[in-house]
Amino acid sequence: MVSPESMADIAHLNGMRLPARGEHFLRIDSESALVDALSWAADRDVAITVLGEGSNTVMHPLVQGLVLEMAIPGLKVMDDDGTRLLVRAAAGENWHSFVLWAAERGFHGLENLALIPGTVGAAPVQNIGAYGFELASRVRSVYCYDRVLEEFKTLSAADCHFGYRDSIFKRTDGAHYIIVAVDFELDRNAIPVVTYPELKQALGQRPYGAVEILEEVVNLRRAKLPDPANLPNVGSFFKNPAVPLPVAESMKVNWPLMPQYPSAGETVKLSAAWMIDYLGWRDATHEGAIGIYRDHALIMVNHGAGSAAGVLNLATKIMQSVENEFQIALEIEPSLIGLPAA
Ligand code: EPU
Repeated sequence: MVSPESMADIAHLNGMRLPARGEHFLRIDSESALVDALSWAADRDVAITVLGEGSNTVMHPLVQGLVLEMAIPGLKVMDDDGTRLLVRAAAGENWHSFVLWAAERGFHGLENLALIPGTVGAAPVQNIGAYGFELASRVRSVYCYDRVLEEFKTLSAADCHFGYRDSIFKRTDGAHYIIVAVDFELDRNAIPVVTYPELKQALGQRPYGAVEILEEVVNLRRAKLPDPANLPNVGSFFKNPAVPLPVAESMKVNWPLMPQYPSAGETVKLSAAWMIDYLGWRDATHEGAIGIYRDHALIMVNHGAGSAAGVLNLATKIMQSVENEFQIALEIEPSLIGLPAA
């Protein structure tokens, strides 16, 4: 096998472009390379960190152990009955390129998730979601490597325990799975999901189908969210907190302008962006180079020379101010690698 690189510069593999090195680093482009890398790490008893493009991660300046960049390519139609398709996308494929590949072939169902940064393999970890739609609703199964049983294994969508920005892959009971590919159920005649008010408004009165939805989602994201290639960021930095119905009711009385959204079970999601904006954090620069984006209070950005410590300091300050004003505990959304939870 190819030897891992020592003290590799992996700053390009974290969305905030913070200075970062991997103690040992390998780019994995096949299933057999993955198995070889894991046995290399087992022989030396070093920890493993698995990354896609790192677009939703904040990492310590030195990631200990073996860092794997999952770059296995491949897009394949596994089954096609003329109406429904089963498509397998390998972990290393870029997510947005896959969405475009599918849409160009008339394989629909993923349009609302266009332009989300990152890889296919990272998408199930936080069950990516946008514009009223979550990845989970199109996942048939996730093909993984099980590090305990030392074998490849297929997890059904139910096995993945998908939730709002959550799955088994984020939790300790799923930490032994490495995602190798994802199987999606797509449709030639998908019913468009246009529940998100902003998307509905953007589409207006004109007739629309999957192509128009994809275009509008791309337009909305480009207009509202900074391009990580120009202004490093990890998308939403906090989750929208879900609270019980009675709490949501009393919040509505005290803060009638705060948007609330339907959520799972007897809960309602509150707008973290609105709360952070209300408290005056938008367009602020803190800790030297780390700040909050001018046009969206839920996006933390690195203006150039930011550090992981600066990111966590600002996150803590924001969380404290939200807690003080609203008695709401915000939860950090990106994965923290080698860092304590703020
Ligand atoms: N708002 C403010 N100030 C701001 C920004 C927003 O008051 O600076 C208020 C506005 O009222 C706006 C509302 O917050 O209508 C909601 O904003 P937005 O539509 O941008 O949605 P969000 O709740 O901030 C969520 C997801 C995004 C996803 C959008 C669209 C989470 C944590 N974030 O953001 O996902 O793109 O909805 O569906 O659920 C991501 O996960 O990285 C991400 C970008």
